[in-house]
Amino acid sequence: MTAAYTDLRDRSVAAEGVRAVYAPQQDSHLLIDAMRTTELALGRRVVDLCTGSGVVAIEAAVMGAAQVTAFDICPRAVRCARANALATVVDVDVHLGSWTRAIEFGPFDLVVCNPPYVPHASDADAEAILGPAWAWNAGEDGRLVLDPLCASAPELLADGAAMLIVQSEFAGIEHSLTALRTVGLDAEVIARQRIPFGPVLSARAAWLERTGRLEAGRRDEELVVIRADKR
Ligand SMILES: C[S@@+](CC[C@H](N)C(=O)[O-])C[C@H]1O[C@@H](n2cnc3c(N)ncnc32)[C@H](O)[C@@H]1O
Repeated sequence: MTAAYTDLRDRSVAAEGVRAVYAPQQDSHLLIDAMRTTELALGRRVVDLCTGSGVVAIEAAVMGAAQVTAFDICPRAVRCARANALATVVDVDVHLGSWTRAIEFGPFDLVVCNPPYVPHASDADAEAILGPAWAWNAGEDGRLVLDPLCASAPELLADGAAMLIVQSEFAGIEHSLTALRTVGLDAEVIARQRIPFGPVLSARAAWLERTGRLEAGRRDEELVVIRADKR
């Protein structure tokens, strides 16, 4: 059985108002596809650290996870994820709070995360982008969540466990790989997808060009899924 992404998106909108909760997008699907391809969820204790609509957590449950826990700092996302899990008839234990709380609940066999990773100019508040900006804004370098997450990975993971993180090239792929290897994990990119800029990066393209992170005129980005293993 596969959960219907469109239904999840529609439910999140209907339950909480237009764009109140991050609707599943290419990054969500890339992460879910990686989870499916690696078969890492089956029979495992899974945690989804930035759950949003709950789509990744729900897919883990659908894929046969033994137990699924999820976190989000946004109360609307938590309500939405709970409602979506209920509607999909799967058990997901959704908690309100920072992903860092997961350390108290672990260790886990599989950690999945689609964190906020979009670099954020200090004047970005002026952008006319509708939606939950805390779902994507991640500081000047896009690493507001990625850096502490990579550093905390060994605490979240049981021995033999794995972490799957999705992020953009603009948040430093090599930076994540190095950070994960520095804390003793094996880390590699296991999936890549090039996608056209959405509204957020389109609004920031000139800033990314000005700050030397984007070639003039390019309007696409590479998303990757990083797998990190604790031996
Ligand atoms: C990019 S969205 C991903 C949503 C969903 N997992 C998906 O793949 O479609 C990121 C989510 O992280 C949540 N978030 C942001 N900072 C967080 C933090 N420190 N701890 C937990 N959740 C956080 C946001 O509220 C948002 O729902």
